[in-house]
Amino acid sequence: DWTMAAYKDEAIRLIREQVGDAKVICGLSGGVDSSVAAVLIHEAIGDQLTCVFVDHGLLRQNEAEEVVSMFRDNYNIPLIHADESDLFLGELEGVSDPEAKRKTIGRLFIDVFQKHADRIEGAAFLAQGTLYPDVIESVSFSGGPSVTIKSHHNVGGLPEKMGLKLVEPLRELFKDEVRALGQELGLPQSFIGRHPFPGPGLAIRCPGEITRDKLDILRKADWVFIDQIRKHNLYDEIWQAFVAILPVRTVGVMGDGRTYDYACALRAVTSVDGMTADYYPFSHDFLGETATRIINEVRGINRVTYDITSKPPGTIEWE
Ligand code: XMP
Repeated sequence: DWTMAAYKDEAIRLIREQVGDAKVICGLSGGVDSSVAAVLIHEAIGDQLTCVFVDHGLLRQNEAEEVVSMFRDNYNIPLIHADESDLFLGELEGVSDPEAKRKTIGRLFIDVFQKHADRIEGAAFLAQGTLYPDVIESVSFSGGPSVTIKSHHNVGGLPEKMGLKLVEPLRELFKDEVRALGQELGLPQSFIGRHPFPGPGLAIRCPGEITRDKLDILRKADWVFIDQIRKHNLYDEIWQAFVAILPVRTVGVMGDGRTYDYACALRAVTSVDGMTADYYPFSHDFLGETATRIINEVRGINRVTYDITSKPPGTIEWE
């Protein structure tokens, strides 16, 4: 009978068979899929694997440090931490159109990833955490309607460009199975149960022009919101939760002073696959407490709203 332990052993055997003694590069995003793929491949071939983590400066509070310490210190996986935030944020200056932002980030990501990967001598394979639904989606989309809602961030085309063959050990798995495999591999629950995070990162949660100032405010507000959700034991009931900082400042009053700061929106949804979603029905107490905390703890925000749009017609992210 089928167990995840047996699946893991078989996956390891297949990776060894495919790769032989060649070197493998794996792009880490900090998400569950690429993390599980990396740890699995490392179990199979050890230091023949090098991970590349592109830090575009659009990550959440402490996220880069957490990823680096987990892979480098905990798992001893060779890891290149490519801190390219100056490059990304520089190129994004003055860019406010959502598709232009996505395309800028996607293009830079590929350039930067290639630059760092090219320095790994003798690499013959590129590992990806592609899941079964990704395989299906790319097939069914090719014959589907030609409306692009959002250009997704991916590294399609990169393997051919770099002359690398693909290793995709999660191709047969659904998300819940990837989480079970991660558990089997000993990844901490805090990592396995993480909400999805989009490739373009905080850029698409900062509608309009991105500035370092707005990103700093957004990171703090987002941290408080997630902290609230964890304290109320709601994290695992929610598919995804985050804050978006709005491109508008509003007037408020604090003590005996006037404030003129940014408004933000909380977003939290339930979903099965991200294709449709409903807003999470927080209690009014929870919402009130969260708004108070954000305004008290985060300088730069003086108004908090809750986004109650379902998908469709809304999308989960703001851009
Ligand atoms: P939307 O906003 O389209 O998002 O309702 C659906 C799910 O996809 C995530 N998302 C992305 N994930 N690259 C990703 O890897 C992207 O470019 C991207 N855009 C959106 C989003 O966070 C949600 O889980």
